[in-house]
Amino acid sequence: MESKRIIVGLTGASGIIYGIEVIKALKANGIEVHVITSEWANYVLADETELKLSDLESLVNYLYDNKNMSASISSSSFLVDGMIVIPATVKSVSNIANGYTGDLISRAADNMLKMRKSLIVAFRETPVSPACLHNLAKLATYGATILPLAPGFYHNPQSLQDLYNFITGKVLDCLNIPNTSFKRWNERKKSE
Ligand SMILES: Cc1cc2nc3c(=O)[nH]c(=O)nc-3n(C[C@H](O)[C@H](O)[C@H](O)COP(=O)(O)O)c2cc1C
Repeated sequence: MESKRIIVGLTGASGIIYGIEVIKALKANGIEVHVITSEWANYVLADETELKLSDLESLVNYLYDNKNMSASISSSSFLVDGMIVIPATVKSVSNIANGYTGDLISRAADNMLKMRKSLIVAFRETPVSPACLHNLAKLATYGATILPLAPGFYHNPQSLQDLYNFITGKVLDCLNIPNTSFKRWNERKKSE
């Protein structure tokens, strides 16, 4: 494998722009990006952004429908370096935590867990039900990283883009990809 390969699962939660920003950052880092969209992710994409599915197609290396169980990435024999589900719905958290594997997102995520590869679940819902908290805790014990879409404010954000960059930087940190997407705590201290 020449470059890193990362799978990005977009599900139907609000804040799909975070997923788009992460995809752009992965591409900017020379990573081969495989994107899966759920039916409801397509809906939220149209509802919350100006992007069409065809725009997304031109941003990524490979784009798959969540129902496409014969996709290369459905098999753990197709080697990848990790996966991010962003934004991750309550439903996708449940699917992954309970080993559903009946759609491509939960199947590919299950592959990450069984192959002991990085799985980042960038969860978006508030407040959180007991059942969902239980599923998030399960995922954490199975080795996934739970990354709530809750950007900090210690980098003194001036725009929405600053908030997106904070989340993008955190995702890249979890994937061990060096980045300067956001101002870190120690950098802030230096300038004070
Ligand atoms: C505009 C819109 C926003 C939504 N936002 C959220 C959300 O932030 N979190 C969530 O868990 N579900 C959210 N939902 C509900 C999910 O889309 C729904 O549970 C869906 O079945 C999830 O399917 P998926 O995980 O396969 O994408 C939203 C639905 C719509 C239409």
